[in-house]
Amino acid sequence: MQADIAVLPGDGIGPEVTAVAVSVLKSVARRHGHQFEFGQHDIGGVAIDRHGDPLPPATLRACQQADAVLLGAVGGPKWSDPNARIRPEQGLLALRRGLGLYANLRPVRPHAAALNASPIKPHLLTGVDIMVVRELTGGIYFGDKTRDADSASDLCSYSVVEIERVVRSAFQLARQRRGYLVSVDKANVLETSRLWRDVTSRIGRDEFADVRLEHVLVDAMAMHLLSKPREFDVIVTENMFGDILTDEASMLAGSLGLLPSASLGDGKVGLYEPIHGSAPDIAGKGIANPYATILSCAMLLRHSLGLYEEADCIERAVDGALNAQAFTADLAGGARPLSTQAAGQAVIEQIQARCYVAE
Ligand code: NAD
Ligand code: IPM
Ligand code: MN
Repeated sequence: MQADIAVLPGDGIGPEVTAVAVSVLKSVARRHGHQFEFGQHDIGGVAIDRHGDPLPPATLRACQQADAVLLGAVGGPKWSDPNARIRPEQGLLALRRGLGLYANLRPVRPHAAALNASPIKPHLLTGVDIMVVRELTGGIYFGDKTRDADSASDLCSYSVVEIERVVRSAFQLARQRRGYLVSVDKANVLETSRLWRDVTSRIGRDEFADVRLEHVLVDAMAMHLLSKPREFDVIVTENMFGDILTDEASMLAGSLGLLPSASLGDGKVGLYEPIHGSAPDIAGKGIANPYATILSCAMLLRHSLGLYEEADCIERAVDGALNAQAFTADLAGGARPLSTQAAGQAVIEQIQARCYVAE
């Protein structure tokens, strides 16, 4: 297969983890006889510095024309002045919106070999397999914002259509998995949540009677995620709740550096990125965990290119590397940690040992 993959390294550890992930994709392509072309484009702080725009039109165009987009992370202290006129994060939000990517899939699957990295007791973690579906192009992130000397406001609004489409995606995933969907909201306080709950209940009743649906308030959910994570299957929620709950959920896996994501819509292009940020505290040191980005590549192969065997190959290779204790500093505990590059190399060696070779 021939595929064009737009690579947006971004800021901080973004370029470090995407470089390793691209070498993993190249290794899979070689083994399976595919031709992947990688075009690199600016986004975020680096794009502000070079073009005065966190999402230059050429970057958006390249993403629209690609078969899939792989992104590292954006942002950092250099561009974080509270009074800054343009911010790296606006580039990422504009990209998600520009590509119509309303459903952000964030799987959470603690790995047996890394249970010690989690602050949660291991017996609570075995068998945890959660898919969080985060609404990605609406809510408070995209409402009108105002600021004057004495006050500021961010408007949170959702339309029925915005809720319906993401909730349907979540129900469909639940149907393919264990048939259980939890919808998270704050319906005791927020009007948008009351609409969310109404729409979700209606879709459940009319279209997915075979899926068990429960509604949980977001504050209680933050607690349940840590006290009984094994009970959950698919979780669907609005933009900001999903952002916060998935950073929390990363602690089930043991590190933010382990959680991948896929952002999908009705168009042809999907965006794949780790859920973590640019990690300014460790950027430039070559010690970031690349597995979240590598696992995002597996999602890219599966969801955008339909290469299921190749996607499984990457996931098995990451499993194998973790089983072989190929840990970066965030996972290593007292043991000697691997560099970002060495962890990527461990995955490539697993691919070479385990995966199919083209004729
Ligand atoms: P962060 O996710 O960058 O880092 C939080 C903590 O997790 C840090 O201690 C960091 O070192 C650690 N961490 C994150 N990824 C890691 C990895 N792969 N390996 C090892 N450790 C890792 O969050 P933050 O520090 O709050 O934000 C920094 C910047 O990143 C901000 O500008 C923020 O807006 C941006 N951000 C961008 C994205 C994105 O591009 N999708 C996501 C989140 C945050
Ligand atoms: C994420 C990040 C982004 C978000 C920021 C950088 C805009 O935290 O991808 O999780 O809040 O969506
Ligand atoms: Mn986030």
